[in-house]
Amino acid sequence: MKVIIKENYDELSKEAAKMVEKQLRGKKNSVLGLATGATPLGTYKELVRLFKDEDLSFKDVSSFNLDEYIGLDENNENSYRYFMSENLFKLIDIKKENTYVPNGMANNPIEAGMEYDRTILENGGIDLQILGIGSNGHIAFNEPAKSLSLGTTLVRLAKATIQDNARFFDNIKDVPTEAITMGIGSIMRARKIILLASGKNKADIIGKLLNSPSITTNIPASLLLLHPNVTIICDKDAYSRVNK
Ligand code: F6R
Repeated sequence: MKVIIKENYDELSKEAAKMVEKQLRGKKNSVLGLATGATPLGTYKELVRLFKDEDLSFKDVSSFNLDEYIGLDENNENSYRYFMSENLFKLIDIKKENTYVPNGMANNPIEAGMEYDRTILENGGIDLQILGIGSNGHIAFNEPAKSLSLGTTLVRLAKATIQDNARFFDNIKDVPTEAITMGIGSIMRARKIILLASGKNKADIIGKLLNSPSITTNIPASLLLLHPNVTIICDKDAYSRVNK
């Protein structure tokens, strides 16, 4: 595992975008795994700039998002499909039909999850996966638990996640309590993974993850320690509790 420490959020975002750029310049039809939330926003902004100013094309790219809230459709401003359209897809030349986000409106989310994993495989698997990390150590919506699902499936969100994500909603009561999330196995099959962590509210979990590296389902992100090609990019605030 490689750890890159950047001065601030802006530098972190540029570093992550540079890695995505390298991937796309090397393989035009790359399959990207994408995250939502506050952390990757700067990376997406920089990718939009690279598209506009430096001819970085996404026209042959496919993308798979990590997760979606149950019950929110693409017109709902809090859905992750809406987030991706507004912050990336509408602003670059990716084809909408090549952008996949789990369907939070599916009649059978468990079936829909299995179908999602099949579609990832049919597209050749994920070349480069971008991840954020929850303050409780979740990746995607794989919450700390005794066991973690391998495949994409329906999950109940942890209290901590509902509290963390309430900042995007008018009222905490509006935060959905369930989601479809890519499973740990779906994530671990990605050929390369970049995990982004920014800000003081991630310092505790990054400290736990890196100070005494060990695997536990109580910190789902710790499973990444088993992956052969993971880069963690932190800003100084997120890295501040790692023992020197
Ligand atoms: C988002 C996702 C989540 C977030 C995590 C961090 O698609 O799967 O795991 O990456 O909750 O969120 P932020 O970046 O808002 O701190």
